[in-house]
Amino acid sequence: MPDQRDAKTTRAQRPENRVLVLFGATGDLAKRKLYPGFFHLMLAGLMPEDFRIIGSGRHSPGTDEEFRERIHDALSEFGRKELTDETWEAFSERLSFVVSSADDGEDLAKAVKDAEDEIGATGSRLVYLSVPPSAMESMVGMLGETGIAKDAALVIEKPFGHDVASAKALNAALHETLREEQIFRIDHFLGKEAAQNILAFRFANGLFEPIWNRDHIAYVQIDVPEKLTIEGRAAFYEGTGAFRDMITTHLLQLLGFVALEPPVALNADALHAERTKVFQSLRPLDPERTVLGQYEGYRDEDDVADDSDVETFVALEAHVDNWRWKGVPFFLRTGKALADGRRVVTVGFHEPPMRMFPLHRDVDHDGDGAVVNDFDGHKRARPNEIVFELSEDPTVSIEMLAKVPGPTMDLGAVSMKLDIDQDFYDRHGLEAYERLLHDVMKGDHMLFTRAEEIERLWEVCAPVLEGDDRPAPLPYAQGSWGPEEAVALPHPRGWRLPDGG
Ligand code: BG6
Repeated sequence: MPDQRDAKTTRAQRPENRVLVLFGATGDLAKRKLYPGFFHLMLAGLMPEDFRIIGSGRHSPGTDEEFRERIHDALSEFGRKELTDETWEAFSERLSFVVSSADDGEDLAKAVKDAEDEIGATGSRLVYLSVPPSAMESMVGMLGETGIAKDAALVIEKPFGHDVASAKALNAALHETLREEQIFRIDHFLGKEAAQNILAFRFANGLFEPIWNRDHIAYVQIDVPEKLTIEGRAAFYEGTGAFRDMITTHLLQLLGFVALEPPVALNADALHAERTKVFQSLRPLDPERTVLGQYEGYRDEDDVADDSDVETFVALEAHVDNWRWKGVPFFLRTGKALADGRRVVTVGFHEPPMRMFPLHRDVDHDGDGAVVNDFDGHKRARPNEIVFELSEDPTVSIEMLAKVPGPTMDLGAVSMKLDIDQDFYDRHGLEAYERLLHDVMKGDHMLFTRAEEIERLWEVCAPVLEGDDRPAPLPYAQGSWGPEEAVALPHPRGWRLPDGG
């Protein structure tokens, strides 16, 4: 069922005809996100008039028909839009699979060329390299030798290396074959509507930017707890861990959006310049202010080593040492098998200089949350907070205090919610991967990171990841909020999930 978009906008947004090559075509990401993403883009009129998707990998999934069958199953299970005979036919006739490997890409190169001739491709081919980090460099070499990489847009998945040296080596290998502007390092958190709304909130409104600094903001929390365990992803997770999976990527990128200076324009170069400046001002992380955890039972998961010390949880305090943020702690937390699944950015403000209202209520007393107990046992008025929920149903709210009606001057916690018409999302919303895949086809780098940003982030994380100072992961119970040491990290206030945690 086509989206009801404005026809003129859709025409302007339609990319040119092109071929898309997908490595990792039978993998989890392709199944959950990429095929459903391309399919929805097609229904929304945001794929090229004509395109071909060529899946590739070392092992054949069978005939093209059998390959299509898998994708049909993926769309039925993970697609956001109804699959009809008509839409499936339009999509499936554009799908095929060609075997290739790092040593042999000749058949694939020929298939790509033939498909481009067939559809009269004018747009640069999109090559999606969803392969393990260890295979990345040799695959890029093959793409170069066969000519597939020539003028292609190459999309790569995190982790981009596993430390400073490997990130530099990967970037050098990429640059041997591709120009930086051909490379799209995908971080799907930046494709989330709600993450981009942080930029709109800050820079499209005159109200908040004047107070967006250390004079008014007391703390920032970027909190992405997950209920899920590693869900059978041991092969990936044992080599990656929560820190490299989430912190060096998604959470620090979100920090970039919260902390960057106003860019001179909303384009790739301007945003890149500002993100780079923020990352340069990020103080190298302090192992003493970092807590790693591992959920109980992790070592019993299939394919996890009995003595694995891979972390499934991270909580840390970061600092941006610049004029705007000096002294404001940024608390980051993420982990598997926790009590709740959330993606919340909280910006907390200083309390008013004078306390004029009585503070005799207790959160536990009547649950209104106007008064919070801090770790030192003091009662405090609940601070004002701007809360961005980056969920499927994103919201922005401002948590405030107001007088409780009645004869006393008691305060109650109230919330001002930004009223984003859900219909707005339903009609126009793109899932994060969809938005980013479309950006790649339009050649727009704004929501993608560049080599120097990635290298700087590894430098910042090095004290925690490399060497003897890496904190030992502490055990925590599944369904908890992680190790006690982490719960206490944002002393004296604690973690500030709007409704618990
Ligand atoms: C992925 C990580 O990049 O992001 C996963 O590899 C994590 O471990 C996921 O669960 C979270 O993404 P989302 O969009 O579900 O919040």
